[in-house]
Amino acid sequence: MTNLHYTVKGQTITLSSDQGALILTVLTDQIIRVFQDRGRHTNSYAIEGEKKVETPFDLKEVGDHLELSTGQLTVTVGPDLLLDVFDAQGNPLILDYRGKRRPIAKTIDAAHQSIMRAEGHEVSGVSQTEDRYYQVVKALDPDEQFYGLGDKTGYLNKRSYHYDNWNYDEPRPHIETFTNLYKSIPVLFGLKKGRPWGIFFDNTYRSHLDLGRENADYYFYSAVDGNLDYYILGGSSLKEVVSNYTYLTGRVPLPQRWMLGYQQSRWGYSMSQDRVEQIVDTFAKYHLPLEAIHFDIDYMDGYRVFTWNKNIFKDPAGFLADVKKRGVRVIPILDPGVKEDPDYRIYQEGLDKGYFATNPDGSVYVNRVWPGKSVFPDFGRPEVRNWWAGHCRFLVDSGAAGIWTDMNEPAVFDGEIPEDTVFSDEDQKSDLARMNNVYGHNMAKATYQGLKKATGRRPYVITRAAYAGTQKYSTVWTGDNQSLWPHLQMSIPQLCNMGMSGFSFAGADIGGFSADTTPELLTRWIEAAIFSPLLRNHSALQARDQEPWVFGPKVLDIYRHFLHLRYRFIPYLYDCFAKQMNDGLPVMRPLVLNYPEDARTRNLNDEYMVGDQVLVAPVVEQGQVSRMVYLPEGDWVDLRTMVTFGGHRDILVEAPLDQLPVFVRADSVLPWGRLVEHMDDQPEESMTFRLFGQHGDYTHYQDDGYSFDYEQGAYNLYQIHMENQGQCSATVTHHGFKPVYRRIRLVLPERTLTLSLDDKSQTPVYRETEA
Ligand code: GLC
Repeated sequence: MTNLHYTVKGQTITLSSDQGALILTVLTDQIIRVFQDRGRHTNSYAIEGEKKVETPFDLKEVGDHLELSTGQLTVTVGPDLLLDVFDAQGNPLILDYRGKRRPIAKTIDAAHQSIMRAEGHEVSGVSQTEDRYYQVVKALDPDEQFYGLGDKTGYLNKRSYHYDNWNYDEPRPHIETFTNLYKSIPVLFGLKKGRPWGIFFDNTYRSHLDLGRENADYYFYSAVDGNLDYYILGGSSLKEVVSNYTYLTGRVPLPQRWMLGYQQSRWGYSMSQDRVEQIVDTFAKYHLPLEAIHFDIDYMDGYRVFTWNKNIFKDPAGFLADVKKRGVRVIPILDPGVKEDPDYRIYQEGLDKGYFATNPDGSVYVNRVWPGKSVFPDFGRPEVRNWWAGHCRFLVDSGAAGIWTDMNEPAVFDGEIPEDTVFSDEDQKSDLARMNNVYGHNMAKATYQGLKKATGRRPYVITRAAYAGTQKYSTVWTGDNQSLWPHLQMSIPQLCNMGMSGFSFAGADIGGFSADTTPELLTRWIEAAIFSPLLRNHSALQARDQEPWVFGPKVLDIYRHFLHLRYRFIPYLYDCFAKQMNDGLPVMRPLVLNYPEDARTRNLNDEYMVGDQVLVAPVVEQGQVSRMVYLPEGDWVDLRTMVTFGGHRDILVEAPLDQLPVFVRADSVLPWGRLVEHMDDQPEESMTFRLFGQHGDYTHYQDDGYSFDYEQGAYNLYQIHMENQGQCSATVTHHGFKPVYRRIRLVLPERTLTLSLDDKSQTPVYRETEA
């Protein structure tokens, strides 16, 4: 072989040529790491623990190329160090681009550019002048679509757009030209002629993805700094590729059951105890389920974190206990900015220990946030995370059921934080340029660890900023959307892409955060969001009230109806969460994940699926009372009418303001939850299952709903079999959690059966009894 040399050590192949060096590591037969050392630290915030498993592979010299094959993936590298990836059948998946760069012309000359600028238009040009900048360019097929990338704005399929990875607090209305929001999840999934692949770029520095915008012949990834460090993800289906990604960066731990229930929030509630009580009582008065109320920044003393405003809350623990007696939990917010105030314990402590980020000259970095002048914990250091985690006990002792972490991009009010501000990268001094995108991740992780230690329960953390892997520690919301129809529309592809990017637990502010919602928008929003994993209505201080009752009885009744529908589906959602710990697939997902071979699903923005069985087609257009629904292959049962439709076609359905089109895949069984106004820790006495179609099988998961005992096997699995014309059964296939259901109701299209636990049997056995 001319020019290309290589050495093999275990599953790592180091290649070198006059172009430099490249390291390939086989992690599994479907995951290969590509690494080029550019002199930066190699620790990963996304990937924890050893992911490499013993995997046989072949190495072959073919002409001047080296070919590495695991049986599932083949990677070829030439002396130019360009690299191509093929699937098990030899089909191309990811090919380095060898042609010329030909940016699509912009017919604008310098004189006109300055006129445009004068009116305030952005006339962009990406700066490639930084000396540590690099890029990788890949060939783009005319039939290739892109998904993933976390919370980016716009549509489901990211082709022809471009994005940045740089966590940023964007207060303007999020529109499709915005290239970055609060989160950086640099994972890209592709379907090339229907064949799935993925790439995860594990680099925290500011990076950019151009997905065929510059030219439809190629796409590229570039970064201003950092090592070239990416993971090729293969798999025989798109699901398998996504599953490989969540194997690598981790899966969402099982939430407590109540976290799947309804939550109400508003900036301003915690300005008085009366207001909080009034909200909680009005939910009760109107028989609306409510699990938690979120306390925004108003509860603090001058926005000092880990304090209570004692003028409002004389006895926080007593008050929160009282709210809990009414069935409602409290989730207070924490921001990273610590008020610069010599008389404030947290500031003093952090200062004494040297825990805050500094300027390059060593002085503590100060910027303005809610409390005024503030300093910023250096969350990249383990001891700072431990310190923060320890303080979380303060809120737990007050009765908090979780913690909301916000402004952790980190967001500031006076300009942007200079990129050379000193933040640590574990035990090494680093800077904001490297640590910006993992600041929120490290804050959420610290908060999770603090809550876990203080409560022993599955922590509830909700964060705005995140990086790949944050899903292990926190649920997320999509930040400051607005009460706009385009934002309702965007929430579907945005949450679907969040799900594809590993964040099974995510939601958007229902009703919209800023601006004034309308009765119709609020109604359509609760319908569209009713299956979103996180279900929280939140609004801004200056926005008009948007509780379910403010628009009168009609909106209230519809809102209540849909909250009830949500509670019917909580056991199904919980089952989906239990399942995703094993298969790593999102709960809320785009149709393309389930039906990638169906080209119609690849650009579908206004429908989504929940697991494999439920398809949701909300109305997201103002004034619309009917809509087209695309149903993929198979038969689908309209949940409203129980009428079955054949799939692989569009159907027109009625959807007046009070209706949400939901379809259940024919021949499936779904658990059907109880209507309650608040969930508690009591094990359920009974469970209902419904059959859609002629026959179906279903695996149902049960545990205590709050502890980590399931990790030691303390859970039950039920196997449900239902046949319209024949035998039905319920069998416990794993009995690790002591309480089992005493009764199981099976609702078939034409009859209902009640099965009761046989008290005489040693192991749980169900027999049919009279209802
Ligand atoms: C940020 C958050 C928002 C919160 C507000 C006040 O804008 O995104 O949810 O209400 O800060 O804390």
